Amino acid sequence: MRSGCANTWTRRVSQRIINLGVLVAIVLAPLSATLAADFKREVIYQIITDRFFDGSTSNNNPAQSSGLYDSTKTNWRAYWGGDLAGIQQKMSYLAGMGVTAIWISPPVDNLNTNIPDGNGNPTASYHGYQARDFKRIEEHFGNTTNSWTDFDNLVTAAHANGIKVIVDFAPNHSTQNNAGEFGALYDNGILLGNYTNDTNGYFHHNANISGGGWDDRYQVQYYTLFDLADVNQEHATMDAYMKAAAQLFQQHGADGFRIDAVKHLSWGWQYSLANSIYTFGDSFLFGEWYQGNTSDPLYHDSYKFANKSGISLLDFPLNTAIRNVFGSNANFSDIDAVISQEGSNFTWKEDLVTFIDNHDMSRFLTVNNNNNRLHEALAFTLTSRGIPCIYYGTEQYLHNDTSGGTDPYNRPMMPGFNTGTTAYQVINKLSTLRRNNPAIAYGSMGQRWINNDVYIYERKFFGNVVLVAINKNETSSYNIAGLNTALPAASYSDYLTGSLGGLSIVVNAGSGGNNPVANFTLPAHTVSVWQFTEGAGSPQLGSIGPTNGQPGVRVTIAGKNFGSTTGTVKFGATTATINSWTSTQIVATTPSVSNGNYNVTVTNSGGQVSNSIQYTVLTAKLIPVTFTVNNATPTQVGDYIFLTGNTVELGNWSTTWDAAVGPMLTPNYPNWFTVASVPAGQTIQFKFIKIAANGAVTWEAGSNHTFTVPTSGTGFVNVNWQY
Ligand code: NOJ
Ligand code: NOJ
Repeated sequence: MRSGCANTWTRRVSQRIINLGVLVAIVLAPLSATLAADFKREVIYQIITDRFFDGSTSNNNPAQSSGLYDSTKTNWRAYWGGDLAGIQQKMSYLAGMGVTAIWISPPVDNLNTNIPDGNGNPTASYHGYQARDFKRIEEHFGNTTNSWTDFDNLVTAAHANGIKVIVDFAPNHSTQNNAGEFGALYDNGILLGNYTNDTNGYFHHNANISGGGWDDRYQVQYYTLFDLADVNQEHATMDAYMKAAAQLFQQHGADGFRIDAVKHLSWGWQYSLANSIYTFGDSFLFGEWYQGNTSDPLYHDSYKFANKSGISLLDFPLNTAIRNVFGSNANFSDIDAVISQEGSNFTWKEDLVTFIDNHDMSRFLTVNNNNNRLHEALAFTLTSRGIPCIYYGTEQYLHNDTSGGTDPYNRPMMPGFNTGTTAYQVINKLSTLRRNNPAIAYGSMGQRWINNDVYIYERKFFGNVVLVAINKNETSSYNIAGLNTALPAASYSDYLTGSLGGLSIVVNAGSGGNNPVANFTLPAHTVSVWQFTEGAGSPQLGSIGPTNGQPGVRVTIAGKNFGSTTGTVKFGATTATINSWTSTQIVATTPSVSNGNYNVTVTNSGGQVSNSIQYTVLTAKLIPVTFTVNNATPTQVGDYIFLTGNTVELGNWSTTWDAAVGPMLTPNYPNWFTVASVPAGQTIQFKFIKIAANGAVTWEAGSNHTFTVPTSGTGFVNVNWQY
């Protein structure tokens, strides 16, 4: 195993060197050399591996899990043959579309048995969300020995095409706890244990989440998701197993992770998962926190998580608004409201991953079988703030409307690979724009003109500007008067060259970043994109990733005008070691400064200083510790107990909802607990506080509690509230 890894690692490094040679040769170096830690210039494409392309028939009906394959493709819950080799064979199709990252189904070894559906049909874990061994590759996707070969080959081919690979990682659960393999988990082939005979406590044994439980912080994290054996990540063995599995994927070249069901994993544990991944190397992480909109009872928890954990989120509230507006003809104010609400809540909003549809909801064309509207939604997603993710087949207008087109009918086989569709071309063009104009990746997003059918918004990063006008009305054009823009005075032709009916505009000189656009008529169902990229100037900082790390963790800083000669990066007043420097991307090492929030700046070799961007320096690598406080001070409905303490990880003695750790959970009132990821080897000081519904804070009495955090594994603290 060890030498296998070393070989893979060497292969990967030499592949990178080969890539570099090729890239330098064709002068595309900055394009494909971008590190995963800045994902904002990428266009992600989500693939259900089983349903994309069958690249190898030898893995269709493997011996260890025979009978789960349906060559007729009529049983929608069976394997249909798509595999990693198939994705690899379609790499130039993907690159030609402007896709720069693929998110693949969980590739790990899944349930081997058939779980009958009750109507006599077999069902299989063709989607990948029932893992049995997180350290091996599923035989239907790779090869019958469950080796990493096909995964490695896919990564090599993707990287050679400038495409990053995102692994869907689902550490919340293993397989179904009441059937099949009863949650059995293997560590690279060696049985760890299963749910029914769980003498080690590897699993939580609670009921399924149901009813009001979906909004209950304890139930969503510690109850069972759809009968799936709920892994206890606070057990040191499970903690180490999941982190080692993620690291194995990094060693095999994975650039990032889409983390499944983050709302249902222990929130505090995931800070340490992210830290473990970033400590090992460059990566981008985003999680699935399902919620309908910004009024969701756990919405506040979701943005606190995204702001602190280092894990970005799929943007479900915006997804709902996109579907309502383009799918169900709701007013554009729906989208505008979400953009502004999330804009004030999410610190790293440009890292949110935006999407029109995915494998858990009906496809857009099932909701509204109108290609114009699909094109408009695509153009919106590709130009608005956030990292766009396109569900496979969207560019082929794929949909199956059986039973409302929901799971599994939203996962048909890819119908073909036509590179001539309008959708394919639009994605390609707007992906190029995202690469070339930093306003799309890093810019602010502001509404410039709106009515029920028309949305004109501007992206702006310093003097780089993109103005987009969408009219979703099928028949009515609109006269656009009074439109202002930050585009400099000039005439602008449509960046999409009219492929979605766009037109040219004339911008006249105005003042204060408000240049008047000469009145024009916006035709029905059209999208126009106008853009301007400014020339060289002072350094402009657009991105930092990860957003936190202990001294020694490498940080990718991206933007514009850094210059080709190495300058300086500062964390506060402290100069950091530079690992690499290009005019758009710098890698620096988190310096040995005390823990806390720092403003990071770039100074170019000419002495010009950039804007600053926030970064949190952690004290040390993070260890998940379960803190329990017994017999806490009484609370009323809406009051919660929080944990606060003397390091940035514990909120630096803060007493606010957003900065202290919590709210804690109370399955056994008045005892409360929470998992917090705290710095390894440090003796921390902490206390528990009550934050009442009205914001009033009550401290527990006595002196501070202290705890020396273990240097590895997990930790447990159990104290009584001091009266
Ligand atoms: C969310 C995934 O997207 C969904 O498809 C899956 O079934 C559940 N999580 C459980 O893993
Ligand atoms: C203020 C609190 O009142 C006190 O209880 C706590 O010990 C200190 N912060 C931290 O030193």
